[in-house]
Amino acid sequence: MTKVITYGTFDLFHEGHYKLLERAKALGDYLIVGVTTEHFDETRGKFDVIDPIMKRIENVKNTGFADMIIVEDHEGQKIEDIQKYGVDIFTLGSDWVGAFDYLKTFCKVVYLERTPNVSSTMLRGSTFKVTKLGIVGTGRIAERFLMESRYASGLAVIGAYNPDQESVSQFRKKCAEYELPVETEDYELFLAGVDAVYIASTHETHYSYVKAALSAGKHVLCEKPLAFTRKESEELYELASSKKAVLMEAIKAAYCPGFQQLLNVVQSGKIGEIKDVEACFSRIAAAESRERTDARYGGAFLEYGGNALMPIIKILGKNYESVTFDSINNELGTDDYTKIQIRYKDAMATAKVGMAIKSEGQLVVAGTKGYVIAQSPWWLTEKFDVRYEDESIIEHYEPKFIGDGLRYEMSEFMAKIHGIGEKSYKLTAGESIAITGIVEEFVRTRRII
Ligand code: CTP
Repeated sequence: MTKVITYGTFDLFHEGHYKLLERAKALGDYLIVGVTTEHFDETRGKFDVIDPIMKRIENVKNTGFADMIIVEDHEGQKIEDIQKYGVDIFTLGSDWVGAFDYLKTFCKVVYLERTPNVSSTMLRGSTFKVTKLGIVGTGRIAERFLMESRYASGLAVIGAYNPDQESVSQFRKKCAEYELPVETEDYELFLAGVDAVYIASTHETHYSYVKAALSAGKHVLCEKPLAFTRKESEELYELASSKKAVLMEAIKAAYCPGFQQLLNVVQSGKIGEIKDVEACFSRIAAAESRERTDARYGGAFLEYGGNALMPIIKILGKNYESVTFDSINNELGTDDYTKIQIRYKDAMATAKVGMAIKSEGQLVVAGTKGYVIAQSPWWLTEKFDVRYEDESIIEHYEPKFIGDGLRYEMSEFMAKIHGIGEKSYKLTAGESIAITGIVEEFVRTRRII
């Protein structure tokens, strides 16, 4: 019996897929089809898959060509499968010619002619209209967003808004190649031309920009902090839901596949009950920067607090009993370094953020059976360990991470706009509101000299 194996995403199942499976089956007597998981697709840079895995498997099954369907979830699996199932022929479409020649050591490799003029990518393009996005604010992060947006399919950045002429002229110089029109006067006019906005302006302006955008029915991805009070944050999420618009707080680690995997491990019970979470985020900012000199709206906490608080809220929940802060301020009264202590009924947490003080940017989750440690920079989660009392046992994880993380956030935003992932738990409205609650508490209790 000749066994054949082929792999694919098989998203929005189309004629090209059908014809490939038909010919793959004809190459032998028994066909095994590997269907990719969403997570595996993300790690290989395919962020925009629409159909959930069960639907993609069902579609492959309905062709009647597959004798066995397996799930492909990691790199290197093909070699394992070929040996495990005693495969004679490996086959894929001609778009992959040469890419799998290394498998010739194990079996015959056949590339089948690809069916012209059809692909999942083309279908995705026609299923959803392109989302026209405008960036509010033209600082460094706007520039990075612009660069990364090339990897988010279905999203076109069509303009920026900033009434601050100085920032606009710097942005124009740096981003000249994008030839992006910048509106400097009329926010309403700017909003009228877009479907969605990414808000990357100074912190104190977030709330009003978000509110105006949502009121106009636009989807919003907003940099942290979303707002300065819990009430404002609640109001914005309520407005989003009444306008059927997407509102997402841009705490990018929450959307990274590696961090998701870390959460799964933590929640699996492997390390027992969770009793402590420690998260640190520090990045030295230039001494003369706005972040270091603006005592009211700058400082380490307002800049980075969301990053360090997010894993705590995700792991220990929204219902903490108390929160206290301790800061080292500079002579202008801006916090250079802040420690946040959070007490839960049966657990505790510490977040540390630094803007003029550098520390190890790690995340440690301590449980009753062991702990998880994600080394610096944990927020670009590329590796983490599970360790136990017996120090000879270390489970090491190395999730893939592509780019600087913004593309994961963008692809989540796009998925939500398309109505996929409405039930996504990566960062819920409730968690984002809880983080704003801590921001409110910090602002209320801090001393500005
Ligand atoms: N395939 C094909 N003819 C097409 C499209 C795909 O023969 N017109 C083959 C691919 O070469 C692969 C299999 O179908 O062997 C599964 O491909 P997949 O990547 O899932 O489909 P695409 O339509 O190529 O998806 P995308 O556009 O997302 O890359």
